[in-house]
Amino acid sequence: MNNGRSVERPVVLVGLMGAGKSCIGRRLAQRMGLPFVDADREIEQAAGCSIPEIFERHGEQAFRDGERRVILRLLESGPLVLATGGGAFMDERTRAAIRDKAHSVWLRADLDLLAKRVQRRNDRPLLQVADPRAKLAELMALRHPVYAEADITVDSQDGPPEATLERVCAALERHLAAAAPERAAP
Ligand code: S3P
Repeated sequence: MNNGRSVERPVVLVGLMGAGKSCIGRRLAQRMGLPFVDADREIEQAAGCSIPEIFERHGEQAFRDGERRVILRLLESGPLVLATGGGAFMDERTRAAIRDKAHSVWLRADLDLLAKRVQRRNDRPLLQVADPRAKLAELMALRHPVYAEADITVDSQDGPPEATLERVCAALERHLAAAAPERAAP
């Protein structure tokens, strides 16, 4: 990527906390010459406070409603790379909108990698529990079957993000070619 094929829809990254959605998304956007948007940051901007504050003051449901509104708006903004929060794709309406208006990429990671990565930050309300690894395992069981509905699945690897980025680019390229073979680059 990019061998001349342009995208007309947003490319949306989904997956659990710690999967590398923002890290890979930022690099993918740069590679594709598209703007990068992090849905969590957009929600914070719209709310005028941080995600932990939204959860604390208004509760998770209010966060989910805001998340849906922000993502539906961003899906109308033309081509961009969008990193979503881990719960976004679990919302039926958000998922349907992503299916209709975007190319979706599930960044799949195993429990060891997720547990290691989420240790770097302590601003995720769902992981403020005695055993974050057990919570991640619980979310994994619940969410992986739903993330699997994404157009593309790529395994997120430990180590330099470039390796995962290359695989995302290759998978996206194959997906775009299959979706619009007649518009393939020469
Ligand atoms: C959440 C994931 C977070 C953030 C919020 C809830 C989730 O985003 O949206 O804390 O439900 O998995 P990241 O996946 O970017 O950490």
